[in-house]
Amino acid sequence: MTNATVSTATGSTVTGSTNATVSARSATDLSTSEAINTRVTIRKFVQEPIDQNDLREILELASRAPSAWNAQTWRFAVVQNPEIKARLQEAAYGQPQVGSAPAVIVVYSDMEDVLATAEETAHPGMGDEGRATQRQTFDRVFGGQPVAVRGQWGLAQANIAFAFLMLAARGKGYDTSPMLGFDPQKVRDLLGLPEHVQFAGLLPIGKRDEPGFPQHRHATERLVKFY
Ligand SMILES: Cc1cc2nc3c(=O)[nH]c(=O)nc-3n(C[C@H](O)[C@H](O)[C@H](O)COP(=O)(O)O)c2cc1C
Repeated sequence: MTNATVSTATGSTVTGSTNATVSARSATDLSTSEAINTRVTIRKFVQEPIDQNDLREILELASRAPSAWNAQTWRFAVVQNPEIKARLQEAAYGQPQVGSAPAVIVVYSDMEDVLATAEETAHPGMGDEGRATQRQTFDRVFGGQPVAVRGQWGLAQANIAFAFLMLAARGKGYDTSPMLGFDPQKVRDLLGLPEHVQFAGLLPIGKRDEPGFPQHRHATERLVKFY
């Protein structure tokens, strides 16, 4: 944990604590717009292990994602073991990108863990009062909800981290393949995850060994209304 003092646009400063070990941009990093524009789904990867420091840095960047009440519902299961990866590929209906990638990051939401540890996500700058408020808020909002319903809320937060993960990977020169085509129960069973967890997706990650399809998207005008 280190203390960080950040200057805001208005010139004031905010001090908080962070366990981030990365922040500076390295010479080989892509800009945000480069990462967005060059990210395409890759299903065939170069057959080499992923650099473990890069992998950690990408996971750490993804964990910087924002979430409502700072709940940080996302969890990452990183599969590199070839046997487990083969079984994960089976659970994903044999889709080849799972076997081709040197690592597959399973992104899931664990809302029950979030609720059990509510105090952890209160900002330390808010002290005991902040921790008590976080606990009360979570109990009030989620305490009466069925596990599956609050699990959906948790999943909405985890999807933000899923997107951060793809862009962090691309920013560091890696490629990914977002996937929802898998049997969630098989993945829970394989990884020993509790029944209540919900999946943002599988993310095979590595270096591209194919160009992928060019992006095809709606024109911005089709999507946006200005008021
Ligand atoms: C949440 C999500 C789930 C996806 N699931 C699969 C999948 O199971 N199998 C697959 O081949 N592609 C999958 N895709 C890839 C999409 O088909 C792809 O992102 C989309 O066609 C846009 O192409 P692009 O990613 O190359 O820009 C998924 C993408 C997302 C974002």
